[in-house]
Amino acid sequence: MTLLAEASKATNIKTRALPAGFGLEIVGMDVPNAGEADLAEFDRICRENAVVVIRSQKLHAGQVVELAGRLGRISSQHRTGPHPQYPQISILSNKKVDGKYIGAHEVGRNWHTDGTTYEKLGLITLLYGVECPPEGADTVIADTAGAYEALPPAMKEKIEGLQAIHSRAKLFKKYSQLGVAPEDMAAMKEVLHPLVIASPVDGRKALFLTKGSFMGIVGMPENEAQALMDELIAFSIQDRFVYTHKWKADDILIWNDLSTVHKASAYDEAKYDRLVYRAWMRPFDLVSVTSAAEEIGPAH
Ligand SMILES: [Fe+2]
Repeated sequence: MTLLAEASKATNIKTRALPAGFGLEIVGMDVPNAGEADLAEFDRICRENAVVVIRSQKLHAGQVVELAGRLGRISSQHRTGPHPQYPQISILSNKKVDGKYIGAHEVGRNWHTDGTTYEKLGLITLLYGVECPPEGADTVIADTAGAYEALPPAMKEKIEGLQAIHSRAKLFKKYSQLGVAPEDMAAMKEVLHPLVIASPVDGRKALFLTKGSFMGIVGMPENEAQALMDELIAFSIQDRFVYTHKWKADDILIWNDLSTVHKASAYDEAKYDRLVYRAWMRPFDLVSVTSAAEEIGPAH
């Protein structure tokens, strides 16, 4: 028996498909006490699936940082609701202390992708539920590789080779409370990314979609470009491509931002408290090409 076979035999991890037909739920893993074989299997599953869910894991913030750090280098979030002790992760919450929100509030409500303004694409998002409302506050994720595959051939032909324009300044303007100096704002360059990219999960073609940073498409009138983005998002968020994560406290949800598009659904903030930790990771093979300037603000 090879060492590899022994290692895989030692894992307690089992998986089951998520109802959407893409992504996996990991069962049988005790994250805080996981041995190296289980962690190695966890890494592999996260590399090979667009969405991964693990439920019922009691983690403190430091353990969330540790788990996230296995999947890539964690991007700084010091402008987007950093955790006071672990600024590598953000707090998403409607809770207030002394009249001030303790973290980022009401973010990501429109369909978008995190990390669209990096010069070299590649981002993994991890969320951990600390307090979760019993209704609303879902995370809704669509499979843009599956959506691409299902596009009519004429649309595939139309979008092949198109380059979308993404603006970091547009994101910062949306989060004006971040207090970025005007000269820093002016220095932010727009970046181009193909509308059709290769999914890092399995190499299939995937649509790279977002409303947040999207400015237009090279060589296309702006209204036409916006309409095309809207049309591709509308196509991709049909039920057949969508996984809706209904949160319970102690859930871990991880997705790859290069073959998905996602949004957060609203909830009754007067009635319920929500507290979620978020980590953004750059896959290790991209760390050397990530500039410091790319890591200073919102990635969506
Ligand atoms: Fe997001």
